[in-house]
Amino acid sequence: FQDHTIVVLPGDGVGPEVTAVACAVLDSIGDFYGHRFTYQEHLIGGAAIDATGEPLPDATRDACRAADAVLLGAVGGPKWDGGKRRPEEGLLAIRKAMGLYANLRPLQVSPVMAHRSPLKKEIVEGVDLIVFRELTGGIYFGEKTRTDTTASDLCVYSVEEIERVARAAFQTARQRRGKVTSVDKANVMETSRLWREVVTRIQAEEYPDITLEHALVDSMAMHLIRKPREYDVILTENMFGDILSDEISVLGGSIGLLPSASLGTEGPGLFEPIHGSAPDIAGQDLANPVGMVLSAALMLRHSLKLEDEADAIEAAVAAVLAAGAVTADLGGELGCRAAGDAICDAIRAIHWAAAHRVQ
Ligand code: NAD
Ligand code: IPM
Ligand code: MN
Repeated sequence: FQDHTIVVLPGDGVGPEVTAVACAVLDSIGDFYGHRFTYQEHLIGGAAIDATGEPLPDATRDACRAADAVLLGAVGGPKWDGGKRRPEEGLLAIRKAMGLYANLRPLQVSPVMAHRSPLKKEIVEGVDLIVFRELTGGIYFGEKTRTDTTASDLCVYSVEEIERVARAAFQTARQRRGKVTSVDKANVMETSRLWREVVTRIQAEEYPDITLEHALVDSMAMHLIRKPREYDVILTENMFGDILSDEISVLGGSIGLLPSASLGTEGPGLFEPIHGSAPDIAGQDLANPVGMVLSAALMLRHSLKLEDEADAIEAAVAAVLAAGAVTADLGGELGCRAAGDAICDAIRAIHWAAAHRVQ
């Protein structure tokens, strides 16, 4: 058995429900492929505020840094609105503390799933894109001020911050269809003008084989709905990436389907679905666990270098979805736990088929 230490941060709302499913799926992978995943559960977000007063306790941060990888459910909820500390602070702080500047949010819409989107099947069928969202800079992390009559959030980007996430996006484009669309607001924002200059230079100097185009974020929001199949790698700053990734989740039919990987130059990655704590459905076994389960697959691929195992999870999810075994957000009847069981069953079937092919 190969041992892997995974810090699990269930967080708030549906976070504990979907992380429990992800761990069950990883245990199935461990059984069949010969790995032992050791989980260390820690507090973050509202749960951490309730227990310790802090959204990111030191013990959580230290454990994350020492782990092989981190799985995170979601943080936040109305319970902590208006409080002195916010759950979301914990999430931003752990991303910063771990140096996770590149947030990858992939989306594929297979022909069998296209009818689940509220958009026309012809528009979404075959979509295969990945958003590279800068995750530790921009307006999220600039100075904030507040007086009785004014408030401000400062947006700052350095050349180096733009260069490193751009390189990550270009590298990935090389393994895909060779196209990067960089999204900014260069007609208004100085940070966007710097962004565009730096991305253009990195492409010219280091990635001449990659096609680069620039788009303004407002029209990009429209194009992503009108012609999403034209996009391959989408590179953008922190806040635009946050907003556009929720938008593209509609192409796949539910925000509950989308995973993400947050990576730095070295050290463990953090893997979380793109959705939030979904307070409206929390505690009712209604959440779609697929985004969390696919995040665990990204963890196997990017942090643990277990490519076959990651492929097995993705194939299992695809098989379950294709069979119509889906949760309520996609019009189905399965609960969160039952959807997890269906994925585990599919992993067993996939492993059995693979084992019998080699003989
Ligand atoms: P949300 O993503 O939690 O929910 C938006 C809608 O999508 C809701 O109707 C919800 O029921 C649905 N939904 C989300 N995930 C789902 C799933 N797995 N299965 C089925 N349906 C799902 O966004 P929100 O309501 O704007 O935010 C709620 C809280 O979550 C806020 O406190 C916000 O700050 C926080 N949040 C956290 C994260 C994170 O931890 N990474 C991400 C986004 C939002
Ligand atoms: C996300 C979330 C977070 C973000 C919030 C909860 C801080 O919306 O991961 O997409 O804006 O990054
Ligand atoms: Mn978001």
